[in-house]
Amino acid sequence: MSSRSTTPAANITDGVNVLNTYLAENDLPHPSFDANGPADLQLSSEVEDTVLSVLNSTLELCDLLRGPKESMLEWFFWRPWVVYDVIRRFSIAAKIPVDGEASYADLAVAPGINEDALTRILRYGLDSSSAIKLLAEDALLNDMVQQAREDCMASSLAQADALEKWPAADEPSEVTYLLGENSTQTGFFAHIAQDPERAERFARSMSHHSKGENIAEDYDWGSLGSATIVDIGGSTGEVAFKIANQYPNLKVIVQDLPEYLKAAKVKDLGNVSFMAHDFFKDQPVAGASVYYLRWVFHDWHDKYGVKILRALIPALRPGTKVLIVQAIVPPFGVLPNLVERRLRGFDTAMLAFMNAKERTLDEWKNMIRTADARFQFEQVIPLKNSLLSVIELVWAP
Ligand SMILES: C[S@@+](CC[C@H](N)C(=O)[O-])C[C@H]1O[C@@H](n2cnc3c(N)ncnc32)[C@H](O)[C@@H]1O
Repeated sequence: MSSRSTTPAANITDGVNVLNTYLAENDLPHPSFDANGPADLQLSSEVEDTVLSVLNSTLELCDLLRGPKESMLEWFFWRPWVVYDVIRRFSIAAKIPVDGEASYADLAVAPGINEDALTRILRYGLDSSSAIKLLAEDALLNDMVQQAREDCMASSLAQADALEKWPAADEPSEVTYLLGENSTQTGFFAHIAQDPERAERFARSMSHHSKGENIAEDYDWGSLGSATIVDIGGSTGEVAFKIANQYPNLKVIVQDLPEYLKAAKVKDLGNVSFMAHDFFKDQPVAGASVYYLRWVFHDWHDKYGVKILRALIPALRPGTKVLIVQAIVPPFGVLPNLVERRLRGFDTAMLAFMNAKERTLDEWKNMIRTADARFQFEQVIPLKNSLLSVIELVWAP
């Protein structure tokens, strides 16, 4: 009888052969731990799928061979964020000359920290040279590391405490995040709005999560002709500008909280304009063709999701479209492990930040029906290179 580990092992061998052939045929560099190794392998989408399947098999094999006890204890001393956070906080990357070298002693001097402590932390990252190089070159990655440290890691530690204190887990003011931050604010967004730098960093790092996805291509905006789109909770308009640039006939109004728009220093440009609006209040732009909400509902418990949808009703006309762009969680165990973990990671982060969630298709339909039966569920359009889909609703009174 063949061992359970044979299948993932064979998949890894076959997949790596496919990858190596592709890289050789296209004269592309091979993956490496070297500081100058490629940060992005530039693969075709087909070979990317093969690599995803290899990664999935490596995870499966790792879990299988380690067994449940070792896998659990692996987390005991799992501290990669310490490495990235220290590199970022003490600007370690900037102290290394381009194409040159610096000793651990050189790196420790300017921030005046203990050389031995710094050396040990960087060695935990198995030399850390590729991480240092990436952090030197990529400002957005620095934002992501800082946000992961400030918003994600710190808050996740208080999850069990929050559930003990507020077992219903249904209010944005009774969450792990605020407990971890020792904050008395009404929710995550109110808390970060107090610190403009943090709010700006949050807005920038949102743009990372839409990288690769192209809603301007994947939805038929052209068929709308000259129309008005309202992008609700649209942040700095990353998505709005993408759509508006490709479709100059469309007028896009981006709405977000006033303090958030101020912190993010947004500016009207071309056919994109910004408007302060709280999406729990009645929608002030009546008669637009599309109301668009990307990555909004996963920040809210169903009872608040229902309120956001109902606040649109006074502005809707028969046939108006409401587009919700968000993940649809498939049944457990259908996705490759790696993708499932990423999606469940988002889901549990939403629980920690706002007592909110990522939803299955049935959960979406229930929430929308509860808001109002006149929201007619039209179709789901999965976006390419993304975990998200467009849920298209039509107002049918
Ligand atoms: C996860 S971000 C998504 C941003 C953007 N739609 C995107 O896809 O990148 C959620 C956005 O909702 C905004 N928001 C939160 N509460 C809001 C409210 N009550 N009214 C309007 N916008 C709100 C936040 O400021 C933030 O920009």
